[in-house]
Amino acid sequence: MNNPREIKVHDKDFELLLSEAEIAERIEQMANQISVDYANKELHIIGVLTGAFMFYAELVKRITINVRVSFIKTSSYQGLKSTGNVHFDLAFPAKLTGEHVLIVDDILDTGRSYKKIYNEIRVQNPASVKLATLLYKPSANTTTYKPNYLGFEIEDKFVVGFGLDYNHLGRNYSSIYQLKK
Ligand code: IMP
Ligand code: MG
Repeated sequence: MNNPREIKVHDKDFELLLSEAEIAERIEQMANQISVDYANKELHIIGVLTGAFMFYAELVKRITINVRVSFIKTSSYQGLKSTGNVHFDLAFPAKLTGEHVLIVDDILDTGRSYKKIYNEIRVQNPASVKLATLLYKPSANTTTYKPNYLGFEIEDKFVVGFGLDYNHLGRNYSSIYQLKK
């Protein structure tokens, strides 16, 4: 696939952090856990574009219960930094009332995106709301929210690949890379 040890994206150098094989193994475990936890329920899985697209597909195709799929779109990053302002570029699906909702995002970083998403969903009175992320930077989190299903905890370093971008590039790599010093 698309697995070099080092890559250059735009003007920055990145080194391998998580391989395609490690990621695939972990996603399989997450999907199994979700299938067990929501057994005999219908689950509405909402992906957060753009960063979650690859993780979303790899996760949902391994889930063995019936799921409804939909997407929202947020943006907050410019280059290497979160602007702190979260925009919804694509609105929520209507009528989440009574549904079991699982939000799927690439990473929980400052937590501001998920906080805003969670508050938007709660007002529709869903049966439950949980979060699955592939990555989590605990030291960057400014909120009390944490992923309910998590792939990997990582240091507070900028990462690309497997859906995550730097300046709109690098999402296509099938491994995850961190910024080199
Ligand atoms: P938040 O800071 O938790 O609100 O995360 C907002 C969004 O920023 C995430 O969904 C990612 O799309 C993006 N993001 C956060 N950290 C990184 C990173 O290290 N690399 C690329 N994108 C990131
Ligand atoms: Mg995102």
